[in-house]
Amino acid sequence: MTQELAVTHLFGTKKALFADLIDSLLEVSVLGSFSDAGYTVRSKLYGWDTSYPVHDVTGGLGKGKDAPLTAVITGFSSGIGLATSLELARNNWQIIGIASNRDRCANALESIRGAQSNLPAGQEAQANIFTCEGGYENNALGKLPLGTSYAITADVAELSQIDQAVNVIKKHNTKIDLLIHCAGKIYPEMCLTQNGFESTLALHVLGPHLLTKSLLELMPIKTTGYLPRIIWVSSGGMYAVKMGLDKLLYCGKSTYRSTKAYAYAKRIQVELAEIWAIKLAEENRLAFSMHPGFVDTRAIQEGIPLFTKLMKPFLRTPLQGADTLIYLALLNQNEALRTLNGSFMLDRKPRSTSKLKSTISSVSEKILTFETVEKLISDREVE
Ligand SMILES: NC(=O)c1ccc[n+]([C@@H]2O[C@H](COP(=O)([O-])OP(=O)(O)OC[C@H]3O[C@@H](n4cnc5c(N)ncnc54)[C@H](OP(=O)(O)O)[C@@H]3O)[C@@H](O)[C@H]2O)c1
Repeated sequence: MTQELAVTHLFGTKKALFADLIDSLLEVSVLGSFSDAGYTVRSKLYGWDTSYPVHDVTGGLGKGKDAPLTAVITGFSSGIGLATSLELARNNWQIIGIASNRDRCANALESIRGAQSNLPAGQEAQANIFTCEGGYENNALGKLPLGTSYAITADVAELSQIDQAVNVIKKHNTKIDLLIHCAGKIYPEMCLTQNGFESTLALHVLGPHLLTKSLLELMPIKTTGYLPRIIWVSSGGMYAVKMGLDKLLYCGKSTYRSTKAYAYAKRIQVELAEIWAIKLAEENRLAFSMHPGFVDTRAIQEGIPLFTKLMKPFLRTPLQGADTLIYLALLNQNEALRTLNGSFMLDRKPRSTSKLKSTISSVSEKILTFETVEKLISDREVE
């Protein structure tokens, strides 16, 4: 190594150590880490190119004449899910969006189609929505042109609607590359789904689990190229609790606490993603969870209004909250991906899943929860 190279290397190493030190201090501060300051400082320290497409790491995948890469994204119609969908659409991905409100789906789909530069000619955005009212066949769309983005209205908490959404996807797609579980909200009061499940659990855990199981057969098993991946959007709120499926299964209206229920559901997402990662690793399919920090979106404006008001100046934008999702979606360095597999990510780095010893679960507890979720889904009454 020449002297000049050695100096550059040393400087580079020192810079990286300095960046890691500041990153760790931010992590310890929690509020600093989750706020827009956490995002801004880290993006500068690590030199992220934040003008999207941030990192042209798809290596041309999904561009040009090739069949596009396809993402199924729940909660695609606003906030973090919409920001993610738009960036992937700009990279000419096909987006299959799932959310419950039809009008928001229509608006989001229009923006997505506006972001795509290789739009298949033809249909209006409005026409590409499959709605649950009328059994999803009311659109009479026939076969969509390859790569056309479309939306499905479904309440992710309702397992029968997941089944129907899966039927629509299987009719129109033979391959899914990416599945993002982003739909989420804080239910102010306890409510039950048609299957009798507590809704926070159903929306964040049961619905996503069923969707994952049902779409796996469309996610190709391969060793090179774009490795299929599944990402759960969890929350830093999960740090407050230890995994406790029973807390959601057996809670009553009087004992229900909205933010606590949300924290339990988000904790289960992280720990089940770890088990999915282990199960799928041999097949070169990957699973991650991430949290977006504090982001100025409807979910927290409606779910925790006082907190949102107080934190307003420090909240991230939806795109900042989506950054790690987009990063994980676009990363095509397969060795790096395999190393990250199963991680809980914030700001492009794996983070610890527990800040308190009392919230750590054993592997057997995680496996038991996974199996219980499987059983709840398979034992449900199918309409
Ligand atoms: N904002 C934050 O600070 C923050 C922090 C940590 C984690 N998160 C998580 O980030 C994810 C995205 O939320 P966001 O902050 O971007 O809020 P958002 O703007 O309210 O987006 C939530 C998305 O989920 C959809 N959704 C909600 N309930 C649904 C249901 N029952 N079935 C189907 N879709 C449903 C919404 O569409 P419809 O209402 O039309 O269905 C919307 O597309 C959520 O999982 C949230 O828990 C957010």
